[in-house]
Amino acid sequence: MTPSNSSDRRPKHEAPITAGQNAAHIPAMLRETLFYLDPKPGEVVADCTCGAGGHAKEILRAIQPGGRLIGIDRDAEILAIAEKNLAGFAGGFELRQSDFSGLEQLLPGPVDAMFFDLGVSSLQVDRPERGFSFIADGPLDMRMDPSRGSPARRLLRHLSEKELEKVIREYGEERFARRIAGAIKQAMATTGLRTTAELADVVLRAVPRHERRIHPATRTFLALRIYVNRELEELEDALAAMPAMLKPGGRAVVISYHSLEDRLVKHAFRELAKKEQVEILTKKPIRPQPDEVEINRRSRSAKLRAIRRT
Ligand SMILES: C[S@@+](CC[C@H](N)C(=O)[O-])C[C@H]1O[C@@H](n2cnc3c(N)ncnc32)[C@H](O)[C@@H]1O
Repeated sequence: MTPSNSSDRRPKHEAPITAGQNAAHIPAMLRETLFYLDPKPGEVVADCTCGAGGHAKEILRAIQPGGRLIGIDRDAEILAIAEKNLAGFAGGFELRQSDFSGLEQLLPGPVDAMFFDLGVSSLQVDRPERGFSFIADGPLDMRMDPSRGSPARRLLRHLSEKELEKVIREYGEERFARRIAGAIKQAMATTGLRTTAELADVVLRAVPRHERRIHPATRTFLALRIYVNRELEELEDALAAMPAMLKPGGRAVVISYHSLEDRLVKHAFRELAKKEQVEILTKKPIRPQPDEVEINRRSRSAKLRAIRRT
């Protein structure tokens, strides 16, 4: 396998892209991640979006013997799953609950490699009680760390109709943002939306019938999730701190799933390269290979960018 726009380099790890029976939990762009992250025995690697540990497990394999992985996630529930999944590497990793704004204080010092696989995990979306899903009914929450911040329900109550429209238009790239925001505020004022199914229903009614190619609530839910979790601000924090957290020669890999995220990553990497703090390893974003998209539909929107600290 050769990442699409770097034919001069060969991946060192030919990791399989299957991860058991459940395609929903296959780590995205695993082969490309290992290629650009280039983890070696004895190295210290920070997986800043550890999730259930899919990528972390393969990174751990590559840094043995003597390596150490620091797995970070803002979701304590998912870290408990990672703990079990990584049990075979006991002693070689530590898991920490934190968001990106806490990264610098959390790491013991500059590391050899850092990895970010942005967004939510399918394990979070698949749990209706977390409030991310418009397919299964749950409370209107959407927080990756339910112990902090405000649930979606409270934000929907406090945002003005104009503010809500802006969130849905900008983060969700939703052309019917005005209608949807109006319908949501009206529902809040009358019945008071409480669950994800109720919200999905309100969006469904607000969107014209002939526009229904994807589920009509997809973009609205994405926008609210980004807003609730301050995902873009968090990413900006991580990008700003990145050079100080990498050793000279250290690599950072970021996978994003949203054009706004990818734009932030692209600009931040360019600025760092201009200051000669990093070398950009991916002139264009790397996209998943067709064989991966076939078995893991979530990966179809993934874009991977990588740098090396100079
Ligand atoms: C796409 S999943 C990662 C999946 C993981 N690579 C795997 O293979 O299992 C993204 C994870 O990042 C976490 N996350 C997202 N934004 C975060 C942030 N700002 N700080 C810390 N963790 C974050 C989410 O809670 C989620 O578990």
